[in-house]
Amino acid sequence: MIASPMVAVRLRTEYQANPLGLGSTCPRLSWWIDDARPGARQIAYRIRAASAKELLTKDKADVWDSGRVESSEQSQIDWGGSALASRQRILWDVRLWDADGSAGAASEPATFEMGLLDPADWTAAFIAAPIEGTGLVGAPAPMLRKSFDLPAKVRSARLHITALGLYEASINGKPITADWLRPGWTDYRKSLGYQTYDVTEHLNPGANAIGAVLGDGWWCGRVAGSDRGLCWGTRPALMARLEITLADGSTVRLVTDESWRWTTGPILNADLIRGEEYDARREIPGWDAAGFDDAGWAPVVVEPFPQVALEPSMAPPVRELMEIAALGNPVRKGASWDHSTFIYDFGQNLTGVVRLRLTGPRGCTVVIRHAEALKPDGNLDVSNLRSARAIDHYTFRGDPAGEVWAPRLTFHGFRYAEIIVDNAWLKPEHKPKLEFTRHSAAAAVVATDTPDSGSFECDQPLVNQLQSNIRWGMRGNFIEIPTDCPQRDERLGWTGDTQVFAPTACFNAEVAGFYTKWMRDVADAQVATGAIPAVVPKPTAGWEWDGEAGWADAVVNVPWATYQAYGDRRILEESNPVITKWMAYLDSTSRDGIRAHKDHKGHNGFGDWLALDAPNSDPGQSATPKDLIATAHWAESLRTAARIAEALGHGSEATTYLKRRDAVIAAFNREFVAPSGRLAPPSQTGYLMALAFDLLPANRREFAVGELVRLIDQRGGHLSTGFLGTPLLCPVLTRFGRADVAHRLLLQTTYPSWLYPVTLGATTMWERWNSWHPDTGFVEIGMNSLNHYAYGAVGKWMYATIGGIDIDPEHPGYAKVVIAPKPGHGINRASASLDTPRGRVSTAWKVEGKDFKLDVTLPANTTGVVSLPDGSTREIAAGTHHFGCAMK
Ligand code: BGC
Repeated sequence: MIASPMVAVRLRTEYQANPLGLGSTCPRLSWWIDDARPGARQIAYRIRAASAKELLTKDKADVWDSGRVESSEQSQIDWGGSALASRQRILWDVRLWDADGSAGAASEPATFEMGLLDPADWTAAFIAAPIEGTGLVGAPAPMLRKSFDLPAKVRSARLHITALGLYEASINGKPITADWLRPGWTDYRKSLGYQTYDVTEHLNPGANAIGAVLGDGWWCGRVAGSDRGLCWGTRPALMARLEITLADGSTVRLVTDESWRWTTGPILNADLIRGEEYDARREIPGWDAAGFDDAGWAPVVVEPFPQVALEPSMAPPVRELMEIAALGNPVRKGASWDHSTFIYDFGQNLTGVVRLRLTGPRGCTVVIRHAEALKPDGNLDVSNLRSARAIDHYTFRGDPAGEVWAPRLTFHGFRYAEIIVDNAWLKPEHKPKLEFTRHSAAAAVVATDTPDSGSFECDQPLVNQLQSNIRWGMRGNFIEIPTDCPQRDERLGWTGDTQVFAPTACFNAEVAGFYTKWMRDVADAQVATGAIPAVVPKPTAGWEWDGEAGWADAVVNVPWATYQAYGDRRILEESNPVITKWMAYLDSTSRDGIRAHKDHKGHNGFGDWLALDAPNSDPGQSATPKDLIATAHWAESLRTAARIAEALGHGSEATTYLKRRDAVIAAFNREFVAPSGRLAPPSQTGYLMALAFDLLPANRREFAVGELVRLIDQRGGHLSTGFLGTPLLCPVLTRFGRADVAHRLLLQTTYPSWLYPVTLGATTMWERWNSWHPDTGFVEIGMNSLNHYAYGAVGKWMYATIGGIDIDPEHPGYAKVVIAPKPGHGINRASASLDTPRGRVSTAWKVEGKDFKLDVTLPANTTGVVSLPDGSTREIAAGTHHFGCAMK
């Protein structure tokens, strides 16, 4: 009998809905709770798992029946059933008991399927076309294919697939997925991702064919400013395994081996940084369909099997997230006897590609160039792209019905695109056909498809645009790994940028899987000394900046931010051995409690990168000494490592770290703090670190806050901070009672400030506080991007302090939610929402005259503590609550 309306919904396994190809033999199960009753609470659950749906229906859970478990946990419940085998498919559901002890109905069942747990399961080879191209241009993209027959109808089929490079696979002419840039980017010396797709619907009894186009991607394309083929490999290769269960239960297996054949087709070359060249006249109709005659194709070569761990992809894939239309018809520029140039404005700086929809004569080529900005004369300004060519070419096959094309083996960072047509080539009768309208080109936005989880809005339109810019900055730089920028020849996993932005990312989107995967990349990248490189994955040549303060500290900060937001202990467990080595590295490279001391031989960090109080134009120099920054980060790394150890139940490890931290703090005060309490030399960032990381004795804090505010006032209410200081500004000022100054900085519109770029029309976060100006263009071209998310790290404070939704560090994963909006100081209305692991939290508040009104909704099975501006606090349970008080 069902007595309770409480039911589990949105079932997830390892953060995914019905995933295929899991790698963990102890997957974690989670759910949200549908129960609108105020105070609704789960007191127990029962998970049932079976090998077939009928068994669940008949209550015959043959794989696992947890029985009634007295627990309020609803997130990341460890698998407790029988050992899971390679490719095993599981159906599971969950039934909940509410606070009255009544059970609700069982949830709708969810599924998951295991991946290939043993490398021997693959029985496939890496196959390639024996072509390599030159260092710069590359070879045509190889097309690989294989025909096969199936004796009967197909019951189910799975394709396990990976590549060194990128693959685009299809079966019987139909793409196996809309995902992009598969199998993704890892440190190919150690790990390689693979995917599993359900291809049951792709197959037929009788003749079938499978095909794949290969791209260079990160494996052998241009990476880290180097030429093609210098980082990992020199040509792409494919490995796939198709397992088909026929109607009679028998299985047929098809793997990549020497029997496959290859040729080249329309993609003349493709590189992530250079762009793609596509000649549609060279398309081979039907090449990936049954019945195609590949007698003229050559046999593939089998490549040596790389010594890597094959890891099923954990993170959401890169996908096309949306298509954006041009703002209007393109502007015709530079029309001459031999060229026509059309400039499109998509109104949004973004990462992706241009999709053409055009009719053109056979053999005519259009060239597509990409840029983030225009010059004052309206032409593209590509000066900040450095050596990134970022140009695509398309040659028409001459289809009178029109042609639609977008490259798939590259991506660019751009707001504007220029399409150039060779007029001289066009015969008079063709000219009218190549008409460029608003609809001839659109921008396809391509990024890792981390589900959006947060929303934020307030009564200040410029702040709302800032929030949009932060989100777009994140979208543009979440491509397989967290990157610094998507447009110039860099696009690397800079650890500093990542660690400052991670807490904000956890509000904007569900990024637990994304960071879990990247932390594995961090483990792969850790060097023998224990240092963490400045970029992860670390390219094989150059890039020897390991262990830099505020960059390498990502090794503790990213797992900790993920744990706080999702309650994910496993990312802590997996990262802890890496952290232990990192802590030993810090000990070994420091002296007398000072990190990166004067005798330290290595590079001593990037400082407060791009701060504005630098004594010279070196972007790594600032008024804040590097050894102060490094020592402060060491102390904070120790505190975070201690918290991680504590969360994992490693008490003595935590005590050791905290003892060490005391010594580092003593050294910090000895070395950098004058008896007056003044930092020498004084800087906003110095005081911010001293306060944020609790490095000062309690009796010196007030003085430090005063000095910080004085340094801000001295600059007319402006910040002077770089990548490391900026994220601390608003949180520190708010924590120490100066929310007024924090708001003043946020709402500042003159340079330097967060809103200054917004007033100039920015649609993403800029790398520099003054990256660009309409009169002068880019202030600097050697290192300047309009899509760099580091300064977007203020986003977490906006959600927490303006929106009013924050994490209770004692209750990671939002079992208890902190609701403490700080109204006023120029903002009189705000609302926010967040999809937490337990459901959606939302807030909405406004100031009306002298009154403050707040609405809060908490999902079932959570509690919260609300702090009102009159200083009162209330404990609340699930449900919707309305509060009001007088403004102070
Ligand atoms: C990157 C930054 C990075 C910095 C560190 C730059 O080139 O774009 O985001 O953190 O270098 O030096």
